[in-house]
Amino acid sequence: KSIVVLISGSGSNLQAILDACKAGFIAGRVSAVISNKADVFGLTRATEAGVPALVLDHKQFADRQSYDAALCEAIDLHQPDLVVLAGFMRILTPEFVAHYSGRLLNIHPSLLPKYQGLNTHQRAIDAGDSVHGCSVHFVTAELDGGPVALQAKVPVFPEDDASAVAARVHEQEHRIYPLVVRWFCQDRLQQQADKALLDGQIL
Ligand code: GRF
Repeated sequence: KSIVVLISGSGSNLQAILDACKAGFIAGRVSAVISNKADVFGLTRATEAGVPALVLDHKQFADRQSYDAALCEAIDLHQPDLVVLAGFMRILTPEFVAHYSGRLLNIHPSLLPKYQGLNTHQRAIDAGDSVHGCSVHFVTAELDGGPVALQAKVPVFPEDDASAVAARVHEQEHRIYPLVVRWFCQDRLQQQADKALLDGQIL
């Protein structure tokens, strides 16, 4: 399977997926990495893995529609079976989301539907939560609202600050994202409207 990964930053989830492909855990290959920001470490990770890395800077485009249209074009050159958002910090147009419907995954650092949007770790601490986590979900037009394929939980301790919680969540992200991509590449995982199915069972 051909996988295109979109990033905006350090790319530690990208690395987990690259490693899982190399190890044969994922029956697929990352055929391109695209970042909306130049000089991010994720681009170095791609190059080191021998994967084409492209910067498509949103500041060079007049509006979101034209950026997303260019992004679609760049992605489709690689005929992806799956598009993976791995810390890609942009809201996507409904047209973009529709184009990749059923083959667009995201990872979000909370136990969805809790804490959609930003600053999830601080919000979990402020709410006094003792459990927090991360979710891999199919992307739909509703921001952070698509069907969840897999979640992992972590404890939150009273002395934790946001960075301590983030580190604990990140560790779990690196476990669950490759696993979900593995299922998808095995044709075991599907999106049906607002549901995610694994081996035909609703998750
Ligand atoms: C992760 O915390 C992910 O949940 C969020 O962005 C972060 C990306 O981290 N969507 P990295 O670039 O994969 O290290």
